[in-house]
Amino acid sequence: MGKIIISASGKGGVGKSVFTVNLGATLAERGVKVVMIDMNLGLRNMDIYLGLESKVIFDVADVLGGLCGYRRAVLRDKRFPCLHMIPATQNRRKFSFDEASVAAFYAKLSESYDYVLVDGPAGVDRDLMLAAAGGDVAVIVTMLEHVALRDADMADRVLSEAGVSQRACVLNKVNRELMRSGLFPSFEDVSARVRSPLIGIIQYDENINISANCGVPIVYQRGSYIEENFNRIADRLLSL
Ligand SMILES: Nc1ncnc2c1ncn2[C@@H]1O[C@H](COP(=O)(O)OP(=O)(O)O)[C@@H](O)[C@H]1O
Ligand SMILES: [Mg+2]
Repeated sequence: MGKIIISASGKGGVGKSVFTVNLGATLAERGVKVVMIDMNLGLRNMDIYLGLESKVIFDVADVLGGLCGYRRAVLRDKRFPCLHMIPATQNRRKFSFDEASVAAFYAKLSESYDYVLVDGPAGVDRDLMLAAAGGDVAVIVTMLEHVALRDADMADRVLSEAGVSQRACVLNKVNRELMRSGLFPSFEDVSARVRSPLIGIIQYDENINISANCGVPIVYQRGSYIEENFNRIADRLLSL
């Protein structure tokens, strides 16, 4: 059975989706089978971050609603054979599925994939509970801002209540110059505010922004320090 890993944050815009896509690409580069599911129901993003927007026909709500089997909704990228994804629905219609059916869906995927990566929604409400159902591990993506850190800790609490027993935190968009100014939270503040252990940092880098916009995970740029960041995070995550 593959491992089910949920990305969450509480606050939006911290880089969850970019993180999920690059973690997926990092793992797939190692030759293991990865499926990523966009659980931002009504606000699909991941297809664009992977340059697969024009290929979407079926989505996760179609699968969970019983309209089609999951294989129909899986998008494959010719460039990266081990990396698959299932897009979110772009309609905010009423959903008939619940936590149990989401957990069963992830469990089914984990029979065929080594890693099931779930890109969770912003917020800490029902959508997060749904996205986290049956998850083994959660990564809480956050930033060096007190608001983001507080929201991250709230997401951590909700994930714990949802039964995700292993949780860790990743700091994204880290700017060392600004950190040195003393005007932003320190690493000590991170541990004081977020109870889950910190397993890695990702610098603020415009190239991440550009590559997301171009639909190519940044880690495919070989030999970059960002690729190294992601490899370290993947190693720590898998040894939790
Ligand atoms: N480390 C980073 N450096 C620079 N820009 C980033 C970084 N991580 C994410 N971004 C940018 O931040 C924005 C929000 O990222 P996204 O992954 O969509 O956030 P979320 O899924 O948490 O809402 C996007 O424009 C993305 O390109
Ligand atoms: Mg997102």
